[in-house]
Amino acid sequence: MLRDIYAGIVDDTFIGKWIRVAGWIDSIRDHGGVLFIDLRDKEGKLQTILEENTNKDIYDKAKHFKEQSVVYMEGEVRKRPEGTQNPNIKSGNVELVISHIELINASEILPFPLDEQEVSEELRLKYRYLDLRRPHIQKAIIQRSKALKIVRDFFYAKGFYEIETPFLIKSTPEGARDFLVPSRLHPGKFYALPQSPQLFKQILMISGFDKYFQIVKCFRDEDLRSDRQPEFTQIDFEMSFVEEKDIMSISEDMLSYLFYELLGIKLNTPFKRVSYKEAMERYGSDKPDIRFGLELIELTDIFRNTNFNVFKQAIEQNGIVKAIKIEKILSRKEIDMLTEYAKGLGAKGLAWGKIENNEFISPIAKFLNSNETKAILSKTGAKNGDMIFFSADKPKNVYKMLGNLRLELGKLLNLIDGSKFEFLWVIDFPMFEYNEEEGRLEAMHHPFTSPSFSDLGKLELLLDKQSKGDIINIGESIIARAYDIVLNGVEIGGGSIRIHSPNVQNLVFRVLGISEEEANMKFGFLLEALKYGAPPHGGLAFGFDRLMAMMLGFDSIRDVIAFPKTQKGTCMLTGAPDVVSTKQLKELHIKTS
Ligand code: AMO
Ligand code: AMP
Repeated sequence: MLRDIYAGIVDDTFIGKWIRVAGWIDSIRDHGGVLFIDLRDKEGKLQTILEENTNKDIYDKAKHFKEQSVVYMEGEVRKRPEGTQNPNIKSGNVELVISHIELINASEILPFPLDEQEVSEELRLKYRYLDLRRPHIQKAIIQRSKALKIVRDFFYAKGFYEIETPFLIKSTPEGARDFLVPSRLHPGKFYALPQSPQLFKQILMISGFDKYFQIVKCFRDEDLRSDRQPEFTQIDFEMSFVEEKDIMSISEDMLSYLFYELLGIKLNTPFKRVSYKEAMERYGSDKPDIRFGLELIELTDIFRNTNFNVFKQAIEQNGIVKAIKIEKILSRKEIDMLTEYAKGLGAKGLAWGKIENNEFISPIAKFLNSNETKAILSKTGAKNGDMIFFSADKPKNVYKMLGNLRLELGKLLNLIDGSKFEFLWVIDFPMFEYNEEEGRLEAMHHPFTSPSFSDLGKLELLLDKQSKGDIINIGESIIARAYDIVLNGVEIGGGSIRIHSPNVQNLVFRVLGISEEEANMKFGFLLEALKYGAPPHGGLAFGFDRLMAMMLGFDSIRDVIAFPKTQKGTCMLTGAPDVVSTKQLKELHIKTS
């Protein structure tokens, strides 16, 4: 080794000892005749000192060294003079008196100083290796590494097998677009990169492995956001002969173990549960942040016979009226900002009212009769000093509007306790969702999710209705055996009990408008496998990057990924995606225009 010990852990026990250390020059200060070099390695920093009058030759050399250069040094550790200790670092009581120093590799001036906070993300990602030298980012990546081990330890201890599944696969639909890889050996054919190992883990259950897990990369070509990357990591698992409660309970155990081992935090289990329907009605979201209140209040009945056109028309078109009450009166500027925000979400407007001197003051007050006003106040419980925001539209739009407004208001009014971890299971999802643009039903989770036992009969009925052109009514009333796990308003995982009967699987494909021919072409291997003794099975996948970002207190999952891509899916460090040579394209039988 080029060193005896990490510089960052040299402490009082080393006083009087001769050591060899190596690392980066974190800072270098020349105090006229005395040179202070802070040497940094992965464990932290060590102050080192070089005096001109005891070691002039090397002093003259070393004073020209630049920060971030890599150096090797030897010398004796001594106690720092009284009053110069630094209690914030492990080596804060001692310093190394340099007897020998060598420049191993000089560094040029960095494109940005490492202690600068306001560096553009583009620059940080282009020089990610420098960005990763910053202690808080390095710590996040190290914590992530520890978390991987903790998760593995947990699943091994519970008797799961870690089994790798292929990356070059036939496309498995999970709702996003596939990344495709052209095949050289089969001109015109493509592999897809897996959006998740969904079908392979189901097939492993059919093979009898009983409990599978994998920490695995998934690839989805979708529009990116701060919590979405084109390649991301899942903690994926599957179990045989289980029901919802088994998967939920092992998920809670895994999270409890991880939170305790990594952060020393004890979680309260079981986590709260809410049905999809209730989540939408109370929070306007299928991933509610339950760290604060501001629940949606149902007001439709009040306005059934209203003269206020905006509400009247909404209700006539099968819409609803809901409201949020806050215990504060916002400024005109804040109201305008929220109205713009609502419009940005597609709302036509944002009606509001405030209660001052026991009077309901609102741009819509003149359209309402006194009974309506009274009912608003009594249903919302609004008092002097409170404000109410209204949304009237189709339920889907009202939920979108008020669900987002609720989050904005939570932030604006400082109602969110950033130190809390509030978990929530969202259960009883509808099996299907109506895609208005395409005029057909889609699987809300994925097409391998089992309908609830009591709704199985409805599938046949649905097919019958579909043949008569009536789709939505019953489609959304079939409940799936799916569950999502939400942490502080972020979906950190989701899963389901799967279909293990080939007949039910075929039925679901038919409801989704997938013909027998298409089903055989796309999922023939699964339908075939289900015929040879498939056990009941189910599982879940956590979004590991999201979980890490939340546990470590970062807003973006990019901060907990060593080499993330930008919002546009590019790698600033390497320049991917990039053009390739004509020769490569030719081998792959690909022509680009
Ligand atoms: P799902 O599609 O819900 O389920 O994915 C599971 C979890 O993965 C995370 N996630 C993402 N994280 C970062 N970037 C992305 N682009 C991204 N997309 C999803 C989310 C999500 O909850 N096969 C099923 C699981 C199962 O049924 O067992 C699946 O993949 O946190
Ligand atoms: P208008 O008659 O369009 O001027 O709307 C009257 C008030 O109702 C204004 O304050 C609008 O912002 C508000 N408004 C309009 N459409 C909606 C809606 N769908 N939900 C809630 N408020 C609305």
